[in-house]
Amino acid sequence: MTASFSRLGAARGGSGSTTGRDAGRTWIVARHVEPDPPLRPHERGDVYDQRFERLKEAGVDVHGEANLVERLLRGHGGTRVLDAGCGTGRVAIELARRGFNVTGVDIDPTMLDSARRKAPELRWVLADLATLALGEQFDAVVLAGNVMLFVGPGNERIVLGHVARQLGPGGVLVSGFGLDAGRYTLSDYDDDAAAAGLILVNRYATWDGEPFEGGPYAVSVHTPG
Ligand SMILES: C[S@@+](CC[C@H](N)C(=O)[O-])C[C@H]1O[C@@H](n2cnc3c(N)ncnc32)[C@H](O)[C@@H]1O
Repeated sequence: MTASFSRLGAARGGSGSTTGRDAGRTWIVARHVEPDPPLRPHERGDVYDQRFERLKEAGVDVHGEANLVERLLRGHGGTRVLDAGCGTGRVAIELARRGFNVTGVDIDPTMLDSARRKAPELRWVLADLATLALGEQFDAVVLAGNVMLFVGPGNERIVLGHVARQLGPGGVLVSGFGLDAGRYTLSDYDDDAAAAGLILVNRYATWDGEPFEGGPYAVSVHTPG
């Protein structure tokens, strides 16, 4: 059976600690970590991608996000997808492989560099979601891999306002992020989405569509009201 990787955590940098369990107690030991040598531009994205390669090799399905977006769009009939905060293009490239017309946007040129090298035929846009104005509409906007936790405190409402403007009629905004750190709550997210004119249509615990019952991760689906 293939395990599914449906709760994607923030994936930047390495760990400076070791965690284990001993007689029922969880322990964390800090260890000295030599600073990483500076990475050349494309290497940062490559390091990010290697994490997913390892998961794939371990039999984990790393395409939960693409699976959900595809399911939602098959019902809607739309084909245009904006991968907002696309990073190295993990989700966009998989959706393009399935026949969707994708655009990836990211603020980090090094991540986009990796995306471009992997799929030069796709459209990659270097832009800040907080000022995004592509002047076109999409059937789905996906904020995968905790993007809402990366945009910076206080910018969430501005980002949602801009991505909401990219949605066509009946389009869906699909966003998954972790809740355990308490940095940005679902209630804040729903308020910010409502301010952008969006209404909640579904909420899942994982990208596989398990029901949300108040756990540490949520995938929310909003649509223009
Ligand atoms: C953890 S990565 C997720 C990448 C990708 N969505 C995935 O799931 O593999 C978060 C991404 O959000 C991007 N990001 C953060 N703030 C952004 C902003 N204001 N505008 C555009 N991209 C942003 C980062 O550069 C980074 O590539």
